[in-house]
Amino acid sequence: MALHSSFSMTTAAQTFRFLRLETRGAVTVLYVHRPDVLNALNRETLGEIDQAVARFVDDPAQGALIVTGSGEKSFISGADINELAVLDPRGAEEISRFGQKVVDRIEQSPKPVIAAINGYAFGGGCELALGCHMRLASENAVLGLPEVSLGIIPGYGGTQRLPRLIGMGRALEMILTGRRVKADEAAALGLVNRVVPREQLLDEAVKLAETMLKNGPLALSASIESVRRGLEMPLSDALRLESSLFGILAASHDMHEGLRAFLEKRPARFERR
Ligand code: COA
Repeated sequence: MALHSSFSMTTAAQTFRFLRLETRGAVTVLYVHRPDVLNALNRETLGEIDQAVARFVDDPAQGALIVTGSGEKSFISGADINELAVLDPRGAEEISRFGQKVVDRIEQSPKPVIAAINGYAFGGGCELALGCHMRLASENAVLGLPEVSLGIIPGYGGTQRLPRLIGMGRALEMILTGRRVKADEAAALGLVNRVVPREQLLDEAVKLAETMLKNGPLALSASIESVRRGLEMPLSDALRLESSLFGILAASHDMHEGLRAFLEKRPARFERR
């Protein structure tokens, strides 16, 4: 796979043990990289994802993030079962809170985050994908929350985000059976946005990111915030939030530029202000 920038690779190689980062223009691609365990998330990997996402959010040159797994077979095989096996109640609650915090950070990114699900996405891997703003799956992707088969429950937000995404009945069926769902069924359930051929997954994710990045960056951020926070509110409060954000954008250069560019029949030049 071609690496398009030395910037992030160098930074990642110095900083991250279990991640690989690549930049394609304004799109950052984050690979979870633990080949021995099919990219399972141990605590250190979660911490690295947390840092990498924070760094992406703070980088003005980067507009969108793609999260994927290293290798051909697996996105993320779940939380690292070796670590789970030795947890006491206090440690279990703590790692659940930490995993939730990392997934929250992804979801709260003001710039779009896409999960490119390139294979197995089980347990914490599926939950991490649920925190991304959208999900593309390759034809070989398989998703599931098999925690109950291990005598535990999803602990990185899965019991909350899955029913919000696909509805309570279908979510509970997945959670209580632990059933694995192949890509086509995942698309039919609304668990992933769409399925793409395996070799095209990353290119399709980059194309999707670039399509979004043609639009006003402040409008993208406000849209994400309105949808994300709005879903946590009663409809009347969420509508107020939408109006407030609409009003705030009216103070921006970019809104005036976008509207003027349309009327002048030219492309807009957005400046994130
Ligand atoms: N945590 C720790 N190690 C894991 C892991 C996980 N979540 N998932 C896979 N691995 C390890 C395996 O133990 C194996 O290690 P080994 O080579 O030392 O034996 C290695 O990764 C390869 O996995 P393997 O099971 O041989 O590959 P497979 O292609 O036959 O099966 C899976 C792949 C993903 C179906 C299977 O590994 C699996 O069911 N993993 C657990 C999934 C899960 O329950 N996740 C939720 C955790 S909360």
